[in-house]
Amino acid sequence: ILPNGIEQALQMPAVNKSQGIPHYMLEEIEAQPETLAILVQKYGAGFSLPLALRGKLAGIRSVTLLACGSSYHAALVASYWFETLAGLPVQVGLSSEYSDRDVHPDAYDLVVAISQSGETADTIAALKHAQINGSPRTVALSNSPGSTLTTLVDHSLLTHSGAEQSVSATKSLTAQLLMLYVLAFTLGEARGELSKEQVTAAQQEMLDLPTAVAETLQLTKDIRRWAGMLHRKKNLFVIGRNAHYPVAMEGAFKLREVAYQHAVAFPSGELKHGPITLVNEELPVIVCLPWNLQAQKMLDDLKAVRANRGEIFILSNGNIASVEGTSVIRMPNGLNHLSPIIYTVALQMLAYYCAVFSGNDIDAPRNLAKAKTAT
Ligand code: G6P
Repeated sequence: ILPNGIEQALQMPAVNKSQGIPHYMLEEIEAQPETLAILVQKYGAGFSLPLALRGKLAGIRSVTLLACGSSYHAALVASYWFETLAGLPVQVGLSSEYSDRDVHPDAYDLVVAISQSGETADTIAALKHAQINGSPRTVALSNSPGSTLTTLVDHSLLTHSGAEQSVSATKSLTAQLLMLYVLAFTLGEARGELSKEQVTAAQQEMLDLPTAVAETLQLTKDIRRWAGMLHRKKNLFVIGRNAHYPVAMEGAFKLREVAYQHAVAFPSGELKHGPITLVNEELPVIVCLPWNLQAQKMLDDLKAVRANRGEIFILSNGNIASVEGTSVIRMPNGLNHLSPIIYTVALQMLAYYCAVFSGNDIDAPRNLAKAKTAT
């Protein structure tokens, strides 16, 4: 039985902003098939990054990604792509920490500073710190043409998502992910790391992405049902493995940011090394479980959660049954490298509906600003 008022909210149709949609965040979540399709159209064929940048990629020997908040999670997801697709070592720096480190960039390192606003002071400072310490090749990835960050680098890549009104990043984040994927593949191609078949498969995956995101948005009803059960929980775990671990980090971040819930992300293999002590019937565990090489390991990790009476909420494209203590939402099939994007979207929706049920100021969460322009 759902708490008072939630049945009614569960019926609330997701309408278009022009018809009185309640929040920018929902409008921006729902815009994602379109914002991603724009990028696919622009960059899909031949991974057509600007020529001046393409020409500089062949000699790159490592990548440094710098960012804060949601953009940092995009960087972490992309780090797996740079390793797997471009065969490059990667380091990901949290901007606010990076500026205080003694860094020693290699002359063939590519620094990518990622910021939706392009005005986040920590990321601007981190980029300058890299440059002062000798990083010669810099790229900004931003949603804001002409922003400060874009004026400090050799090349700017734009996410073309349109203005994002809600403080919490949604459409700009998935666009960052897609652009980082394009960059990783372009590097892989330039370095001769990829076969023709791999490049074709990667392009096909990009073409399939907007539809997979649209299918994910159709899970609204199931996700609202979860939010009805989860929004009053004080503590939650969000878990994943591999590239879906930073997706879990972003999901937990969103739950903190807009739903004001204490959600913490872990790689599922780490549960047994400490966090499992906290699992009981009061602590739900949300699981990103794409049906891939890590799936069986994750199912094994989940046995310990059930043994401690933790309630499990699984997002998966695998054929997993909803049984006592385990609720499963079936995710769309067909994506491989880009799967983190659809799990990100599902968790955006979960955080959004948890915030709706809690009556929070969704587009302007307390104490937060869209861009923190002071370090
Ligand atoms: C602020 C926002 C976060 C955002 C972060 C980075 O702290 O509250 O939601 O992810 O800035 O923003 P940026 O514009 O640099 O991507």
